[in-house]
Amino acid sequence: MNTPWTRRSFIEASTLTGAALAASPLMAANINSGTKTLKAGLIGCGGRGNGAIKNWIEACKLLGIEGKLVACADAFKDKAVGVGKQHGLSEDKCYDGFDGYQKVIASDCDFVLMATPPGFRPLHFDAAVEAGKHCFIEKPVAVDPVGARAVIATGEKAKAKGLGVATGTQRRHSAGYLMNKARIDAGAIGEIKGGIIQWNGRIPWIKRRQDGDTNASYMARNWLNFTELSGDHIVEQHVHNIDVAIWYLGRIPVSALGFGGRARRETGNQFDFFSVDLDFGDDVHIHSQCRQIAGCYDRVGEMFTGTEGSCLGGGKINGKEVQVPEIKLESGNGQVQEHVALIKSIIAGEPLNESKQIAESTMVAIMSRMSAYTGQMVRWVDVMENEKSPFYNYACTPGALAFEKGEIELPEEVPPVPGKA
Ligand SMILES: NC(=O)c1ccc[n+]([C@@H]2O[C@H](COP(=O)([O-])OP(=O)(O)OC[C@H]3O[C@@H](n4cnc5c(N)ncnc54)[C@H](O)[C@@H]3O)[C@@H](O)[C@H]2O)c1
Repeated sequence: MNTPWTRRSFIEASTLTGAALAASPLMAANINSGTKTLKAGLIGCGGRGNGAIKNWIEACKLLGIEGKLVACADAFKDKAVGVGKQHGLSEDKCYDGFDGYQKVIASDCDFVLMATPPGFRPLHFDAAVEAGKHCFIEKPVAVDPVGARAVIATGEKAKAKGLGVATGTQRRHSAGYLMNKARIDAGAIGEIKGGIIQWNGRIPWIKRRQDGDTNASYMARNWLNFTELSGDHIVEQHVHNIDVAIWYLGRIPVSALGFGGRARRETGNQFDFFSVDLDFGDDVHIHSQCRQIAGCYDRVGEMFTGTEGSCLGGGKINGKEVQVPEIKLESGNGQVQEHVALIKSIIAGEPLNESKQIAESTMVAIMSRMSAYTGQMVRWVDVMENEKSPFYNYACTPGALAFEKGEIELPEEVPPVPGKA
């Protein structure tokens, strides 16, 4: 493992880039005070939130900085306290409820880490950027076209304010994927002509309604099975592979035409499987396939076929020998490295901003889902430009704000059915 970014070089950089840091006043104050401490707030204290804060602290450590959690929030108090306690937080800094995020953002944190269900991301991300915080927003970043476009707009606002944004796309910060991307760009497999991307596994979990649950708390507890909060698994999980396809090809598909269905799920309103043709134009098609059914053939990854070779995601590549620069990373763990990249970029005065790229990948996953749900072809222009398209204006209900305002109407726990009998 390479550690070219030493504590000394960090201190030198932080002295040299005072002007750049002025764009991020909170962070500048902390770094220049001599304490070299950065503060984070966490929204969403489940599995990933718990992991993300540890990854962020580890990244700070690799850069010679002390990283501290100063506030956290979860829809459920026990979850917030569970994570807060691990980091020495008193209970009054562990907020609950659907408005708890506001208290985290109002704290003196420099960074806000967001790992709630993605249905809440556009609202929380915008509030954090409004408050001038650097952000880590877990993928996916929306569940509908309105939300994905809002994230692009908030990302632009973050850029104008000199704020950094990283997005939970750890493959883009992992040596194997970075190396293969560099090799492909250098011509190792020629021009990519097609491929298949897959996330075939099982339903990670389901949660049943508990005594005392409101509709809102039940939905938040069982969010992974409701499209309004997760986007369906094609958005929630498979976005990782869609993101790799867009990254490696260097362009966005012009349309998605897919189908899917439900065979095994017992709660929520999602599909169990999807099969989608992503048309990248110029006769290039990528087959996107994802399934959540236990006891079936599992595979997660990407395969690309080029005119002169082939490539397996961040793994084996068959093609021409090409010269590419050495990849130097501080951490072998992409989920730590993405925070290193974010913090380093802010210190260097050129904040990383991954919002647009993850919003676009999320949008392609949403297009694919909408195609399968409706049986129609969904084009990129339908969700990005054509304001008369029903896809352009589609927003899931209940939306994030409805949860904050009070009780919500529970969507029927049945999947959509496309076409006619
Ligand atoms: N990058 C990756 O590899 C990776 C891996 C896992 C999950 N994720 C992403 O991280 C996010 C969280 O996933 P997870 O696996 O941690 O799920 P989780 O269910 O373990 O955690 C989500 C937490 O958010 C809380 N929550 C729900 N609504 C909330 C609200 N409005 N405000 C505050 N808290 C709220 C829930 O109570 C729960 O504790 C998702 O977007 C998921 O796709 C990314």
